[in-house]
Amino acid sequence: MNEQTDEPVNDPSMQHVIGVGPWEGELPTDEKYDPRLLAEGDRRNVADKYRYWTMDAIIADLDERRHDFHIAIENWQHDMNIGTVVRSANAFLAKEVHIIGRRRWNRRGAMVTDRYQHVRHHATVEEFVAWAQEAGLTILGIDIFPDSVPLETYDLPKNCVLVFGQEGPGLSPEVHAAAKDTLSIEQFGSTRSINAASAAGIAMHAWVRRHVFGQKVG
Ligand SMILES: C[S@@+](CC[C@H](N)C(=O)[O-])C[C@H]1O[C@@H](n2cnc3c(N)ncnc32)[C@H](O)[C@@H]1O
Repeated sequence: MNEQTDEPVNDPSMQHVIGVGPWEGELPTDEKYDPRLLAEGDRRNVADKYRYWTMDAIIADLDERRHDFHIAIENWQHDMNIGTVVRSANAFLAKEVHIIGRRRWNRRGAMVTDRYQHVRHHATVEEFVAWAQEAGLTILGIDIFPDSVPLETYDLPKNCVLVFGQEGPGLSPEVHAAAKDTLSIEQFGSTRSINAASAAGIAMHAWVRRHVFGQKVG
């Protein structure tokens, strides 16, 4: 399969790169398996335990285990980072991904991982905030504002939504105002910031360390 499209890869030189070829031996009958993948092989960008599974079966399995954090990203311009943020949200098993602003976003970096993720769109920050409050989630901004507090020593709540800004402007004043706190990731070099996708991976992993591995902070 082509990772970008989930279509079979026709180039024979690619066949050994990732994944598995056609199923060998007696075909399994469990309906979680996709007859086409069993016949043609499975080159998708999925973990080995999901080889030959239908997309619906994979999503159903993930839905039983999703974590309690959500992530959101503002999308007022076309930010190339969003796809990579979505891919990390899939890897760290965020409950849902929220796109605030424009509905269309650049899927390139997502490597089709968005198909296994629940992605919800909010046209305005106001709509997003109302939804988060209704869902009982603490809104936490992630950015480097003068009033930001260090992520490294912050006791992240279990039920929260981590909100990331865009390359350039960063988090909007509206999200900044709505967030209970805004958290910054400590840097040591000369650059002013890291990109949103890197920041998202670090912040999600901080939640995983706290709530999956029980690591306390500070
Ligand atoms: C390139 S930054 C935006 C610029 C930033 N607001 C500034 O003052 O230069 C894009 C997004 O990446 C995230 N980000 C980048 N570096 C960060 C850091 N050190 N700590 C927390 N978030 C960061 C934030 O979500 C931010 O909105």
